[in-house]
This record gives sequence, structure tokens and C-alpha cells, in this order.
Amino acid sequence: MSISGYTFLCRFDVLEEDVPRRFEVEGTPVSVVLTGDEVFAIHDVCSHSAVSLSEGEVEGCTVECWLHGSRFDLRTGKPLDPPASRPVPVYPVRIEDGGVYVDVVSRSDG
Ligand code: FES
Repeated sequence: MSISGYTFLCRFDVLEEDVPRRFEVEGTPVSVVLTGDEVFAIHDVCSHSAVSLSEGEVEGCTVECWLHGSRFDLRTGKPLDPPASRPVPVYPVRIEDGGVYVDVVSRSDG
């Protein structure tokens, strides 16, 4: 199944709670996170320095950058702690027929 504007990433049931998974969608690195009963997609590059957020810890609706500890809100991409001061783009996610889809064109920059 395809959804207009959205790219299939994986089956929903392969996601583990609070364990980010990295995908590459049309050259865009995306970290997908299942937390609570929601799935979020955030650009997989910290805005402070070019490291992968999918290697960080998830707590609630945040992911913590492993290098210097800034936490980002998974809903908005906004940094909650220094040293990061700029948001990270987030992307719309849809769950359809057990599949996880992301739209990397309609990003939100916080
Ligand atoms: S590289 Fe992410 S907070 Fe510094």
C-alpha cells in the first residue's frame, strides 16, 4: 500500500518502545521512535553537531543527544537543554494497515 506523499518505512510491529530506528528516505536521515502509543519521526542529525540522534536515549516524548546531552522534543524538534539552540526538523507519520509511513517533504522546523 502506498499513501500519497508518504514513504513506507517498516511494519509497525518491528518497532520497539523507546528504541529509535534510523532510516534513509530519499537521502534524508530519519529517526523513528515509538513511545507511549505514538510514533514520531525526527531528522536524524543533532542541530548542535552532526551526530545521529537515533543513538540517543528516549524518555517520554524526548530524545537525548548522546554527545553533549541536549534533549529534543519529539513532537516539535525543539531543543529543551543547551548546548543545542536550534530545532531539528520533524516529519509527519502515518500508521496504515500495520505499516509506518513518513512524509519527509512536509517537514516542520519547530
Ligand atoms: S552534538 Fe548533540 S548536543 Fe552536541
